[in-house]
Amino acid sequence: MEKINVAREAAEVAEFWSQRVLASGNGNLFKVARGIGSTNWHSHDDQDEVFLVIEGHITIQLRDRDIDLEPGDLLVIPRGTEHCPIAHEEARFLLVGPEVTSNAAGGKPDWSYTTPAKACCPDAADSPGRQAPRPASAQPCSARHDGH
Ligand code: NI
Repeated sequence: MEKINVAREAAEVAEFWSQRVLASGNGNLFKVARGIGSTNWHSHDDQDEVFLVIEGHITIQLRDRDIDLEPGDLLVIPRGTEHCPIAHEEARFLLVGPEVTSNAAGGKPDWSYTTPAKACCPDAADSPGRQAPRPASAQPCSARHDGH
């Protein structure tokens, strides 16, 4: 039994929009992730998605409105509800749920799959095969955000 620093663990997640499992208890996994740019529209049919923002800001786009989250804010997205998180600057958050949501169901943008470890860090920008995060090319989820 050891304590875990959620903020520190979140900062060390190498790939954006990927979940790192920190702990489990009472049938739930406690996971952290980092986000920047936009994901894709998706929903989770198997579980509610529980967000607790640790650092930064993230907007949860829903089909009928946006919900802005800042550090300390908790949001439960009911299972089956379409959503599309977008972070204009890096956001770090805790997720709580019975399983890791799959990449396919998680709305993870394509560019995130090829982002190597520490792509966030400018001093690593000259490494071979480097592909920096490209949030600017990750288009917001829906046309209603075009032009913003
Ligand atoms: Ni989701």
